[in-house]
Amino acid sequence: MSKLSVLFVCLGNICRSPTAHAVFRQIVTTQGLDSKIQVDSAGTGDWHLGYAPDARSTATAAERGYDLSDLRARLVTPSDFAHFDYIIAMDNSNLGDLEVMCPGEFSGELKLFLDYTGKERYSDYTEVPDPYLGGADGFELVLDLIEDASLGLLERIKAQLHQSDRVGG
Ligand code: 4NP
Repeated sequence: MSKLSVLFVCLGNICRSPTAHAVFRQIVTTQGLDSKIQVDSAGTGDWHLGYAPDARSTATAAERGYDLSDLRARLVTPSDFAHFDYIIAMDNSNLGDLEVMCPGEFSGELKLFLDYTGKERYSDYTEVPDPYLGGADGFELVLDLIEDASLGLLERIKAQLHQSDRVGG
């Protein structure tokens, strides 16, 4: 069967979505699922196209063992809806932009990342807050939320993989 694919989307594609990209792919690798799940990230804004992630995101993630160094910002495009099974928005503004772009025939899941969150301690959060203009605490919070939601999203995807194994998809 072809891989299930996940696209993480934020505004600039230099802070939140590349962090989600690196965290999620590392969990996928750790669980031996590289052959079944493809991961990417993109932004709705074009200010940083081709740039490496923000140095604060890279450093905060590196402290927890995640590598963002190979990632470069790109724009989300309408063709992404033909390719990706899961398109995951960091906040409601990103989600609104994606809903405008989403073709009627899209059959995947377009959702907020924190819809997959599991921990009670993060239940006050429905969005991954934009850390760009804030301090270091914001980048730590982004990572806390992303680590938690990544585990929930992966459980959801594993359930879908098991389902399609059963029906031979
Ligand atoms: P991101 O953060 O959406 O998490 O990548 C931002 C990065 C840059 C800008 C805004 C948010 N900006 O306005 O340049």
